[in-house]
Amino acid sequence: MIIVMVEMAMQEKMIVEGQESKINELIGKMTLEEKVGQLTQIVPSLYGAFEEIITKLVEGEISYQEFQAMEKNYHKDEIREGILGSMGGVTGAEISNELQKIAIEESRLGIPMLFGLDVIHGYKTIFPIPLAEACSWDLDLIEKTAEISAKEASAAGIHWTYAPMVDITRDPRWGRIAEGAGEDTYLGSLIGAARVKGFQGDDLSGSQRILACAKHFAAYGGAVGGRDYNTVDMSLQTLHEVYLPPFEAAAKAGVGTFMSAFNDLNGIPCTVNSYLLTDVLREQLGFKGFVVSDANSIAEVVVHGESVDRKEASKKALLAGLEMDMSHGTYQQDLPEQIKNGDIPIDVLDEAVRRVLRVKFHLGLFDNPYRTNKDMEEKTLLAPEHVEVAREMAQRSIVLLKNEDNILPLKKNLKKIAVVGPLADNQKEMLGTWAITGDPEEVVTVLSGIQSAVDKDTVVVYSKGCEVIGNENMDFDAAVQLANESDVIVAVVGESADMSGEASSRMDLNLPGRQEDLLKALHQTGKPVVVVLINGRPLTIPWAAENVSAIVEAWQLGTQSGNAIGDVLFGDYNPSGKLVATFPYSVGQVPIYYNHPKTGRPAGKIKFTSKYIDGPSQPLYPFGYGLSYTTFEYDNLHISSSEVTKEGKVTVNIELKNTGDRAGEEIVQLYISDVVASRVRPVKELKGFKKVALQTGESKTVRFEIEIKSLGFYNVAMDYIIEPGLFKVFVGPNSKEGLEGEFTLVGN
Ligand code: BGC
Repeated sequence: MIIVMVEMAMQEKMIVEGQESKINELIGKMTLEEKVGQLTQIVPSLYGAFEEIITKLVEGEISYQEFQAMEKNYHKDEIREGILGSMGGVTGAEISNELQKIAIEESRLGIPMLFGLDVIHGYKTIFPIPLAEACSWDLDLIEKTAEISAKEASAAGIHWTYAPMVDITRDPRWGRIAEGAGEDTYLGSLIGAARVKGFQGDDLSGSQRILACAKHFAAYGGAVGGRDYNTVDMSLQTLHEVYLPPFEAAAKAGVGTFMSAFNDLNGIPCTVNSYLLTDVLREQLGFKGFVVSDANSIAEVVVHGESVDRKEASKKALLAGLEMDMSHGTYQQDLPEQIKNGDIPIDVLDEAVRRVLRVKFHLGLFDNPYRTNKDMEEKTLLAPEHVEVAREMAQRSIVLLKNEDNILPLKKNLKKIAVVGPLADNQKEMLGTWAITGDPEEVVTVLSGIQSAVDKDTVVVYSKGCEVIGNENMDFDAAVQLANESDVIVAVVGESADMSGEASSRMDLNLPGRQEDLLKALHQTGKPVVVVLINGRPLTIPWAAENVSAIVEAWQLGTQSGNAIGDVLFGDYNPSGKLVATFPYSVGQVPIYYNHPKTGRPAGKIKFTSKYIDGPSQPLYPFGYGLSYTTFEYDNLHISSSEVTKEGKVTVNIELKNTGDRAGEEIVQLYISDVVASRVRPVKELKGFKKVALQTGESKTVRFEIEIKSLGFYNVAMDYIIEPGLFKVFVGPNSKEGLEGEFTLVGN
């Protein structure tokens, strides 16, 4: 197999000459226990019932503030002894500085601690879930929200976030789809890189940036059946063409750490997978930072049945190239003896320690171990300018799926609006998954967003109708009565926050509980129904798509949810988001994604073609789809030349015109299709996009340059090749529609 070395200037930055000698000097002084300590990360444990209290926290019985106030064991003695290098879950300027002071002043070698946390879409100012942000296709703004997350987290004493999750997934059953950028590799790579840049900045030692972590390496999103932690079995070609490029993009952007995935890949758990952790990551990608395991994943190699015990698993993990053990102290317990008796060469241990220390230097922790203080923390969290960006990001994350007869935007001077549904007046669920440091009380509900958007004489009435899940507290009659008295119904339905994210796979993608029945009852009134969806994954909503007047896909938008939804419903913001994951009609179509390989029998009229006998083979809403309150016309596709050599370049122009009656933004998408190749290629592949703002009646030429090297693929021998031949080009508003052209790549 050919090894493609990619240009990794940002990774090389981690190796600094003078610094290397300091690191080696330190390693020379370290005891075996101190070395293993640098490879160990644990979380503060609670005195007493840890599991029980965590369950209460997750189930909302105690608040994060109450949890924070509980007496914890911060492992101060181990820090003092120098046998603990990193902790997860330490939050707050005061406690992080206190622990850091012990490491610096009281441990033998004064090596600083590294504090990590899942800062996935904000720290206190909570931004939309990553899947929603991705629907903005707005790389600058995505970078900005990561930068603000870094600012707030670093003010709270955190050095390192376990983000971005750059896992591609084609399966909305998988709950973690909420944490990623959807199904497309090209878009996912750009978004992953933007997030890395936002978190880390140009200079990580700038005290308001934090270390990023590309996770979960690798192919975690390919879990069979969409069930979290499940096995992944795929060709090396699919791995390298679809799942790995976002990791490569993160590495190129300078990401300092990687996290190994829980799953096995083609039979080898990723945690002990030397092909991934060494051959690909170190040799092909030139990665210079360190790899952390996922929580307890070293010990779980034993449960996979790949290692006989934790000792064997930790040896394999270290030898495979995994530097830091997250959470459960396996390295701490099981490495020292194996080093002492020569089962694991000391050089391997030293190299792992070197990689961790390098990152600590890179973060500037040796020069500036205390990067915050109480004052700075207070000033930074939820700063008004952060909240403003949260509103903008939330507006841009919304995707308009249906707008019959242009019912939206609603007039602000309607007499009466019925706001109905279990998520209409809810704060907690709007935060989405992984927002444990976020404060539900800071969230603007949809109801209050609507109340502040309308004229003062407009009456806004509210009824819950039912719960998100189950049959309890159903009161359709009250909701229907209010609906009957109103001009329009806004129904806010979807999923609770814990229905997506980790360990939240679903086998049914319908609106849960009785919510669809609620929509049907409201529809019966004959009043227009505008559905606002709050959810962490694509849902199957064919009934709503057929029957209600409008559908606004709002996802879980975080702190500013209600304001952004109000802005869109009443036209203060013209929606511009486009789907980054396909919406199926039915869960039976899953996995369904736009860039599937060509079949020999594409779905057609006759029976013996690739389709279902009991439903459509097409999706309900395709990748890239989203409407606006205005209309755009695509015209005049022009390709620079009908023939191009591998050294040449192809430019594609189109004319885009705003033909509607208000200003708007369109995400213009360019796809290609390799017509004939020596391996079956996808029907279409996204290769470019532009977000274009146009006033009413305004036209612009939109120009793309296609990179010839992006037209290649891995052949049967796993060589990356670019084959001459005909390529089709499509430019349009989504992956299904658009203008068509072609060019031929000539030469050998
Ligand atoms: C998740 C990771 C996360 C880690 C630490 C694991 O269960 O898979 O994504 O970063 O926990 O919280």
